[in-house]
Amino acid sequence: MKLLITGATGLVGKELVKKAQASGLEIHFLTTQQSKINSIDDAKGFYWNPECQQIDTSCFEGVSTIVHLAGATISKRWTTAYKKTILSSRIQTTQLLFNRLNNLEGDHNVTQLVTASAIGVYPSDFDQTVDEKTQVAPNSFMEKVVIDWEQESDSFKTLGVKVNKLRIGLVLAAHGGVVASLKVPTLFGLGAAFGNGKQGQSWIHLSDLVSLFLYAIDKQWEGTFNAVAPNPVSQSRFISALAKSLKRPHIFPPLPKFLIQLLVGEMSSLVLDSHWVSAQKVLDNGFVFEHEKINSALESIFNEK
Ligand SMILES: NC(=O)c1ccc[n+]([C@@H]2O[C@H](COP(=O)([O-])OP(=O)(O)OC[C@H]3O[C@@H](n4cnc5c(N)ncnc54)[C@H](OP(=O)(O)O)[C@@H]3O)[C@@H](O)[C@H]2O)c1
Repeated sequence: MKLLITGATGLVGKELVKKAQASGLEIHFLTTQQSKINSIDDAKGFYWNPECQQIDTSCFEGVSTIVHLAGATISKRWTTAYKKTILSSRIQTTQLLFNRLNNLEGDHNVTQLVTASAIGVYPSDFDQTVDEKTQVAPNSFMEKVVIDWEQESDSFKTLGVKVNKLRIGLVLAAHGGVVASLKVPTLFGLGAAFGNGKQGQSWIHLSDLVSLFLYAIDKQWEGTFNAVAPNPVSQSRFISALAKSLKRPHIFPPLPKFLIQLLVGEMSSLVLDSHWVSAQKVLDNGFVFEHEKINSALESIFNEK
């Protein structure tokens, strides 16, 4: 079985490639950087330029599932221009894949698209747990990005391709992502929550996330699934678990909301919004998590070499 992975050189993609190859899957990947075409061992890289709608269509040869992870990072200052990049990098890439597959007029083997989505699609809520049936609406920038991205992905259904959208939570990994960003201040005893610290943080260990992608492919899932561990925690609890795993004190009170808003503007929603997200649907569909609790997830991350 062969996968075509976009964003294969990123945090999630790199780990997914490793685990997929270990399971005997062949990998094609698309990269926007010519220099990365030969960067992954035993995988075949292809260049694409989504802005110019340019792609090497031989990337589809023999592929049964496309895993679409590509997108500009959201962890960079949200200027007006960069907000356009966040959105367009997800929409243009999805359109390019769709258009070229459509042009092949059925002369391909693709039966499934598994795409990264995000729990940022849900309205911020400090009390209620949200699930895949929760009504979503484009009330914030992030909600709009994810809704548009998911809608674009759904166009593949018109090609007879199954569309599976994994709404990913905060990814916990040893090298990169939120843990890497918070590790240094926490090591210096400066770890602190934001706002009132009661925001729900729905996280997932990177290893579970890539297993979930592979499970979704194996089971040929369709529709929307939350990719989060079963036990979300408040942000204060998250920061104190992080400090505990690093054997450091957690003494700092949360940083005031107004200060965060003043410093980073609209982007403050990334740390001030609250998402208590249910993992029940993936559990009901037979997925077994390796890391269900925050303490063991963080311990495993810091024990990684
Ligand atoms: N990490 C998280 O906590 C998290 C949470 C929720 C959702 N997600 C979503 O999951 C996906 C993968 O996340 P990740 O953490 O692995 O992301 P990442 O490390 O930032 O990697 C994303 C990849 O996308 C490609 N890319 C970057 N800018 C692009 C652009 N302007 N146009 C086209 N491709 C571009 C890059 O690959 P090339 O340089 O090879 O082209 C990059 O390696 C993303 O779409 C992200 O939004 C992540």
